Order: sequence, then C-alpha cells, then structure tokens
Amino acid sequence: MKNLTIDIQGQIALVQINRPKALNALNSETLDELYACLKEMELRRDIRILILTGAGTKAFVAGADISEMHQATAVEGLAMARLADRTFSLLENMPQVSIAAVNGYALGGGCEIAMACDIRVAAETAKFGQPECGLGIIPGFGGTQRLSRLVGKGRAKELIFTCDMIDAQEAYRIGLVNQIVPAEELMDACYAMGQKILKKGGYAVSLAKRVINAGMDMDLASGLELEATSFGLAFSTHDKYEGMGAFLEKRPAQLTDF
Ligand code: HXC
Repeated sequence: MKNLTIDIQGQIALVQINRPKALNALNSETLDELYACLKEMELRRDIRILILTGAGTKAFVAGADISEMHQATAVEGLAMARLADRTFSLLENMPQVSIAAVNGYALGGGCEIAMACDIRVAAETAKFGQPECGLGIIPGFGGTQRLSRLVGKGRAKELIFTCDMIDAQEAYRIGLVNQIVPAEELMDACYAMGQKILKKGGYAVSLAKRVINAGMDMDLASGLELEATSFGLAFSTHDKYEGMGAFLEKRPAQLTDF
C-alpha cells in the first residue's frame, strides 16, 4: 500500500492514512487502497477493532484531494463520490468496531470518513468542518446525510452552509465526537477504548452495531422488531450462557464469540 500504513497488534488493527505532505487528503488511489484494506479486514475474524487515523500531527484527513478534483468532469466527480460511498459504507457496516482517532484537521471528506466510523475520539487540537460550499461543491462523501443524523438537521445545515471550522470542544458539545483527550494521549485513549470493547461479547457487539445502524433508517416499530429478533438470536451464543453464568457464579466471564 502506497498511502496507507497498517499495523495489527492482537485483535486491533491501526490503519493510518499516510500522505502527510498533502495533509492526508484522499485521492482516488488512497480511496482504492482503503477499500481493498477494509474489504480484506471485514472477513478477518481475528481483527475486532479498527482504529483509523492520519499520519503526522497536523491533519487527520484534510478532505478529498482538491488538486485531483479541480479539472475533473461531472462524471469523474460522480465516480469519486461513489468510490468513497462504497468505501465509507463498508467501514460503517463491517462487523469490526471502528474508532476514528482524530489527530488534527478533519475537513470535508476527512470529517465524513470520521463520521463513517462507529466512535470518534478527538485530540484537543483537532478541527472539524465541511468546507465544500466554499469550493463550489457540496459534501459528497456522505456529509449531507451522516452529519445531520449525528448532530441534527439545523446544526448540519449551519456547518455546511457557513463552512465554519469548529474545534474539538465545539464538536464534542454538538455530539460530533465522543471524547476529547490531550493530543499526546490520543492513541492510548483509542487503544484503551478498543481493549474495553474487546472484553465484551464480540458477536453481541457486532450484532448491536448492525441493529443500531439498520434501525437508524427504519420506523420505530420496524427497528424494535429487528431488535427483538436479534436479541433472540443472541440467546443462541456461547457468550450468552457464559456471560450470564459467570454473573450468577460471581466470577469473571470468558467471552469468546465473534
Ligand atoms: C489537496 C491539500 C488539501 C486537500 C491540504 N492540501 N489540503 N491538497 N487536497 N484537501 C495540501 C496543500 O495544498 C499544501 O500543499 C499542503 O497540503 C499543506 O497545506 P497548507 O494549506 O499549506 O497548510 P495550512 O496553511 O496549515 O492549512 C491547513 C488547511 C488547508 C486549513 C487544512 O490546507 C485547507 O484549507 N485545506 C483544504 C481543506 C478543504 O477544503 N477540504 C475539503 C476538500 S473537498 P503544498 O504542495 O502547497 O505544500 C472535499 C469534498 C469531498 O473533501 C467530496 C468529494 C466528492
């Protein structure tokens, strides 16, 4: 991989977007590599947590690559949006839990890829924004959809229309990030969260992720029905007998399903 660095330690994979000279901007080559990487990881039962970050201290991802988009035609723009959509939707729906370690600028496509992750942990120095309208385009990597789902329609519209860049505190206040930590503690905080999740039932966590994601696009009654059937399904797992048995026997549980 030319623009990605992958480091797997135990059940946690760290994927770093590595184009620091362009503030980790996402060009088609990087999106292609990311898709291939996630597609392979999706099938690996030995990997349960994916941490996504950007190389260097300045940027997480400063957006889609503007130099590549400048002369692109409408058809090429559409193809780029579709490539990103395929990649980010895979990230959003893969069985592994994804944590965005937002180490700096998360702008445009950078904010959008962070939003496709399950959880966002931000360094105090991180900055978020959707500057597309200032470039004569609109967010095309999911921003018009995921931002409003995360922070509400009014705040999403304000951020997208004004192109205002917000700091980590404001992102936390509006619910765009889950946690803020000092920059030097960012990776430790993400690994600690990953380790905490690893101690839970792996199948249960993946099932909960699937039900939460699917439920967001359903009416409440359908979502509750999906939850009920998935809840029943969880009763067939080893972890259900072990988790509840351990509680009743007052001992730590050994959860293994994934
Ligand atoms: C290509 C980029 C880039 C980007 C930064 N660079 N962002 N190259 N695409 N998105 C490059 C710069 O050209 C520069 O290259 C180098 O990275 C360092 O950036 P500087 O601007 O010199 O750094 P600084 O002054 O510190 O400003 C940081 C910044 C600024 C505020 C993050 O770079 C910036 O505003 N970047 C663009 C952010 C943006 O508009 N993103 C949204 C893109 S549109 P050189 O060679 O000069 O050193 C998008 C749409 C998604 O994401 C949907 C598409 C379908």
